[in-house]
Amino acid sequence: MDYAIKRLENIRARVEIPPDKSISHRAVILSAIAEGKTRINNFLESDDTKATLDCLNKLGVKIKQKGREVIIEGRGKFFPRPKNEPLKLNANESGTTMRVLSGLLCAQNFSVEFEGRAGLNQRPMARIIEPLRKMGANIEGKFYQSTRLGAQADICPPLLISPASIKLKGINYDLPVSSAQVKSAIILAALYADKPASLKEPYPSRDHTELMLEAFGVRLENKSGRIICWPAEKLKSPGEITIAGDFSSAAFFIVLGLILKNSEINIQHVNLNPTRCGLLNVLRRMGANIEEQRLPGNIYGKEPCGNLKIKSSSLAASTVGPEEIPAMIDEIPILSVAAAFAEGDTIITGLDELKVKEADRLESIHSMLRAAGVETRPFAPGGIEIRGGAALGKANFDSFNDHRMAMSAIVLGSKIGGCKINEVKCINKSFPNFISLMKSLHSS
Ligand code: S3P
Repeated sequence: MDYAIKRLENIRARVEIPPDKSISHRAVILSAIAEGKTRINNFLESDDTKATLDCLNKLGVKIKQKGREVIIEGRGKFFPRPKNEPLKLNANESGTTMRVLSGLLCAQNFSVEFEGRAGLNQRPMARIIEPLRKMGANIEGKFYQSTRLGAQADICPPLLISPASIKLKGINYDLPVSSAQVKSAIILAALYADKPASLKEPYPSRDHTELMLEAFGVRLENKSGRIICWPAEKLKSPGEITIAGDFSSAAFFIVLGLILKNSEINIQHVNLNPTRCGLLNVLRRMGANIEEQRLPGNIYGKEPCGNLKIKSSSLAASTVGPEEIPAMIDEIPILSVAAAFAEGDTIITGLDELKVKEADRLESIHSMLRAAGVETRPFAPGGIEIRGGAALGKANFDSFNDHRMAMSAIVLGSKIGGCKINEVKCINKSFPNFISLMKSLHSS
């Protein structure tokens, strides 16, 4: 059903951002393989994180959930052998669930058939299969060629993971593309390996797995960008983990506050890990008025967080290079909305990874902006040029069944008014109360 997007102006609001999705996945996964009980405060309740909880439940992990509070009884590094094999797990549409959990599953002594739904079945898995096989894992998928994957075929879900015939090996691996999901899969497999593993990315991606593993007593080192991970006999629960707001969800309200006239938006207690909030650097370079107040880190003390105050700003175009992309990989759709209101031509390069997200986000960004009358053009392979400052018109947006595209289009449509979007259920993947929050701004 179409959703009508109403125009917003002159907003003064305090917005509560949902808990961080990436950290929520990791908190329950690491707690599950630790010794002892972990209480997780402010866990994100969303379709993706539910998929991870469902998988852990099927793996025999005891989970008590009351809203945003989750208590996990750690099982240690090995899950109990299921009655029927292969054990069937479903990651729904969550790439993080499938890729990160696969690292652990490769080291178990039973087989698993790991499937996904809808778009996840077309997302590339060779990126985890290749390094995990180098470690000795027994993991295969389905050879698949789709328009999503361009000219090249890839290996896609369902995955079949069977017990390895040897103890996993600690490898030295250079990731061809920066990816926190791939990095995390290798690091988790490395916990079970015969010797330390080391890995390096072209540019560093989010480091939540590394920071949280240290809180669980695992030895890790970062030597000029090369991460070394030691095998761990056991993980010791830190007892409690508190998760701050998700910067990727905050990003929609940051850009909204900047582009609306006479507005101020306050965001409380959001994660400000530098490997996540690269968008702040780019927006400030464009002239954004964003004040930051630092707060003490969360309960295991490693993840920086704070409050943000965003005021309407006149933005100027900027150029964003590949080295900046991993720290803002999920924020490119909403950055493109900011660029549409910036004076001049914004050029963003290094965006090949966007083609294999929930949708082909590069194509989707062109389509969203052009629907509203913004001029865009491809800029060399994997780049986009956005002409800012044009008068915009009412648009009918497509969500492409992609939560971040849908929320970006709604922010854009709220500035224009009289727009529509075809489907918004996909937003439940990361930000289930986004629509009600947007509606509440009309009365603020
Ligand atoms: C995520 C990592 C990113 C990001 C995704 C969540 C994670 O993917 O796009 O939304 O939780 O590790 P890649 O690591 O594949 O770039």
